[in-house]
Amino acid sequence: MFKNFWYAVEFSQDVVAGKPMKVKLLGQQLVIYRKGSDNSVVAMSDLCVHRGAALSDGEVKGDCVTCPYHGWEYEPDGAVSKIPAHPDKPIPRKARVDSYPTVEKYGFVWIFMGDLPEEERPPMPDWSLIDDTVNYRAVRGSFLWKSNYERILENGVDVAHTPFVHGGVFGNPEKPEVADYDVEETDWSCKISVTLHPPASKGMWGLINPNKKQSLKERPPVKVSNTWWLPNMILLEVDTPMGAMKIYDVNIPIDEETTLVKFVALRAFFKGAWADADAKRRVFKVLYEDQVIVDGIRPELLPFDLASELHVKSDYNAVLFRRRRQELIDMGWSVEGNTIVGEGPARVEARVIPSPARKLVPELASAWNFKEVRSRQILEGRAPQMMTTAEREAIDAETAAAANKK
Ligand code: FES
Ligand SMILES: [Fe+2]
Repeated sequence: MFKNFWYAVEFSQDVVAGKPMKVKLLGQQLVIYRKGSDNSVVAMSDLCVHRGAALSDGEVKGDCVTCPYHGWEYEPDGAVSKIPAHPDKPIPRKARVDSYPTVEKYGFVWIFMGDLPEEERPPMPDWSLIDDTVNYRAVRGSFLWKSNYERILENGVDVAHTPFVHGGVFGNPEKPEVADYDVEETDWSCKISVTLHPPASKGMWGLINPNKKQSLKERPPVKVSNTWWLPNMILLEVDTPMGAMKIYDVNIPIDEETTLVKFVALRAFFKGAWADADAKRRVFKVLYEDQVIVDGIRPELLPFDLASELHVKSDYNAVLFRRRRQELIDMGWSVEGNTIVGEGPARVEARVIPSPARKLVPELASAWNFKEVRSRQILEGRAPQMMTTAEREAIDAETAAAANKK
């Protein structure tokens, strides 16, 4: 899992005014809420700095959120402005939590989970077609998946699996060959385009699909593209004979083993509300088919060594993803092993992803109570020169404690 990216975490329409909401991603727990003054979204660490209660169980008061335990009041920038038990005493400097930048775009609430200044942040993808309600009709949905988000992402952009996993929906077992595909790469994404021979359309779509009764030979091929963006986003585009279909999908890593998929599926045909349920059902059918396979993959996480699994020509886009991911790990952006949500042994320490204020406001350097998450690079000792003595001692102590438990 990686910090320093924009993460779409929720559909805008589902974040209602006046109510704090719990959001889990990257092993962290956040509270998000709308400010009373301008309705914009605030996202902050959901760990009250006093006793660790969840602010998301508290209340929104104007632009602030209050803790449900002792009523401490947090400003949108994460600073405590009121301690009801001691209204006349000064507020301690350390009475603050990390607050993260947010933006609402393409119908999602996005949170920047990291401490990079604005100009150094990776770009958000251009998903403006989602806002084109004239040419496209959209359905939205969520799908909770007990698998790792990178395994799910690779599955989503894998062209060779469709005849086997989605035979009868859009994969064609009569035609499993993957032709050479076109590749468009950027630093943050990879799009591949390929020509496929899907089976004849079924159900409602079959009514208007000119493919309906033709034999495989007569049926015109269909152009299909899929794109991944680091670290967790996918777009699947199919030029069906009826019109374009585009499925935008974010694979939100709740933790290493739990992923919340949120999708927006656009179609340029059957644009009435009457066809929404059918369109949604088709996306879920594909997700269920993929889920059976992906849940069974071992190891659960993508290996870090490229040579651990075999790659063939049609896996080019996945190999590229794994290479870029390794570069992100080498940059120190990974946040593995720090999860504070989900199953597991009881924790004695909570670490958080640092917010931009930690770097931007030097006066606050010593005002952060929670320590920063560690990266895989440091955990595995890949770059010992990057470790401080304190960090090295902490790791040594952890290793000794783990050895004693055995
Ligand atoms: S735990 Fe939040 S105010 Fe005490
Ligand atoms: Fe699939």
